Amino acid sequence: PDSWPFHGTHQAGIVTPAQDRMHFAAFDLRTDSREELVGLLQEWSAAAAAMTQGQVVGEPVGAYDAPPDDTGEALGLPPSRLTITIGLGPSLFETADGVDRFGLADRRPAALEPLPHFPADNLDPARSDGDLCVQACADDPQVAVHAVRNLSRIAFGRAAVRWSQLGFGRTSSTSTSQATPRNLFGFKDGTANLKVEEEAAVAEHVWVGEGDDPAAGWMRGGSYLVARRISMHIETWDRTSLREQEALIGRDRVEGAPLSGGEEFTEPDFALAGRGGEPLIPVDSHVRLAHPSQNDGVRLLRRGYNFADGTTALGRLDAGLFFIAYVRDPRTGYVPMQTRLSRDDALMEYLQHTGSGLFAVPPGASEGGWVGEGLF
Ligand code: HEM
Repeated sequence: PDSWPFHGTHQAGIVTPAQDRMHFAAFDLRTDSREELVGLLQEWSAAAAAMTQGQVVGEPVGAYDAPPDDTGEALGLPPSRLTITIGLGPSLFETADGVDRFGLADRRPAALEPLPHFPADNLDPARSDGDLCVQACADDPQVAVHAVRNLSRIAFGRAAVRWSQLGFGRTSSTSTSQATPRNLFGFKDGTANLKVEEEAAVAEHVWVGEGDDPAAGWMRGGSYLVARRISMHIETWDRTSLREQEALIGRDRVEGAPLSGGEEFTEPDFALAGRGGEPLIPVDSHVRLAHPSQNDGVRLLRRGYNFADGTTALGRLDAGLFFIAYVRDPRTGYVPMQTRLSRDDALMEYLQHTGSGLFAVPPGASEGGWVGEGLF
């Protein structure tokens, strides 16, 4: 299809086959009024429903002496499979100094704990956290940027963008109908990702289930979004031998097959050893450490994008992977895996985590409803 519905049991943009482009934005609220927060979520939902269907926000032609409702740069463009996914940050429920601005503290999901500091984290507060987030994905970057721009225009006076990130070249497939894309290290990324066709696994690892969190029943059918801006040391990588690159990942570069043999979708065999007795998939390789067999069976739905934000003051590419994962409970589904990777993954020598966010993504809105309705 050319467009995805905004309304449904789950929000679009999670198991939706990953589009080519992303504009992700985190917002801070500029109001302490619960009514204004509710109004904002209602207006965002209405605007998102229109934009995802390729329609303009508000009046096509409004008063001549007022700014137009819709900013206009997507006029005439197809919907481009736009999805708009809205999330709520821990600070919406309680600020770092313990203020409950909107009377929501008792409905805060236990799973919405701010993420811990992981080994080697070098987070920029100006690229981290936020009261709300919007993930806009589309096949046309102009359509994704238009979506975030119009939502922030609607938010004027109530919420303002805290940070945002543009991404390209989806780094994951979320459907078996998609060919596996590559990340900026040149490796296929998304081979072993959770795919929408694996319905039982998606239900087990992505969607919040009944009784998961009694104080936060409003999250049933939702999920948790983990965002990590991961800078990649591209120039160092480009001077690393192919042998070493493959050993770091644990897969071969051209085909994406595990180093234990076979082809892209062959299951890795971690026990298989070479002639010297060393395992063919090194013990500190990324795929071994991230594999469910090393993580109590945990799987995550990865939905990240590559980014290249120009060049640093040192003349290096300011590039990397804007990692996004959807998990049922970050306390079990993300934090232990990230702790292990940050500590033991040999790939970490080429990476630096520079931004971070955790958001509760409520279930989808029904027609006429709005995202977050169940919370208030
Ligand atoms: C697999 C690259 C960060 C979790 C992979 C694969 C590559 C890769 C090339 C193999 C193909 C695939 O199955 O998708 C990277 C790069 C990263 C990064 C370049 C950072 C810039 C992360 C992070 C996590 C993660 C932060 C989670 C905390 C996984 C998982 C798999 C995987 C769960 C699948 C393992 C399996 O079941 O075989 N990654 N990754 N990755 N990665 Fe990453």
